[in-house]
Amino acid sequence: MLEAHGLNVAYGDATALWDVTLVVREGELVSVVGPNGAGKTTLVNAIAGLIPNRGGGLRLDGADVTHASARDMCGRGVAIIPEGRKLFAGMSVEENLEVGCYRRAARRFRVESLDRVYGLFPILRERRLQAAGTLSGGQQQMVAIGRALMARPRLLLVDEPSLGLSPKIVEEVFEALCAIHAEGVSILLIEQNAARALALAERAYVMEGGRIVSEGAPQELLVQPHIREAYLGADARSS
Ligand SMILES: Nc1ncnc2c1ncn2[C@@H]1O[C@H](COP(=O)(O)OP(=O)(O)OP(=O)(O)O)[C@@H](O)[C@H]1O
Ligand SMILES: [Mg+2]
Repeated sequence: MLEAHGLNVAYGDATALWDVTLVVREGELVSVVGPNGAGKTTLVNAIAGLIPNRGGGLRLDGADVTHASARDMCGRGVAIIPEGRKLFAGMSVEENLEVGCYRRAARRFRVESLDRVYGLFPILRERRLQAAGTLSGGQQQMVAIGRALMARPRLLLVDEPSLGLSPKIVEEVFEALCAIHAEGVSILLIEQNAARALALAERAYVMEGGRIVSEGAPQELLVQPHIREAYLGADARSS
């Protein structure tokens, strides 16, 4: 459904993505792993239309969306759960969720979509009138996921959902992403926790220095010594 071909993105004179080629097929869960500064956030932001690209192409369902705006991408069914969640701290949980369905096509399903989100995260229903800024980190991540779902996406771009969360909450967040995937939503998952990201994914890409350096089935990537060393740390070495 999504194809990036030779994508180049720069911040001023500094190139952050070099010839990135990546595919997410209909219904797939694809992970991108890589160290800090590899360009993972730049990649999802470029796909979402939040930052312009300087070359290469993007196609969604066969249509050329190389220069599509973020609004246009949202209208085409692409939603992003951004790094750092980016909620409106002073607004309530429900108001934050409603930001996700500002487009008329999504707003028509407001009640149904809220039910879907509250079904996935019952705690958010209890806290629906509470200011988002007063929630725990895990609950804020749930709101960020919920807000993206309110747009009724077919492709979800998820940037570091586990950042700063306790292991138990990380578990809940990934369970929710799996449930969303099981409903048929395609997912491009950016994740520092490579072991976790590779365990979930059907295919994965490894990024370093703004380039894709490896791709394949997680089982294939996990046996590469370089990847085990770099991303899986002592656990992998001792296993
Ligand atoms: N707004 C910006 N202006 C200038 N340079 C930027 C900007 N955002 C990112 N960069 C640079 O682009 C490169 C890629 O950054 P990016 O945030 O995409 O990496 P990342 O893989 O998401 O890292 P992390 O794991 O820390 O989230 C880095 O060298 C970073 O310093
Ligand atoms: Mg990032």
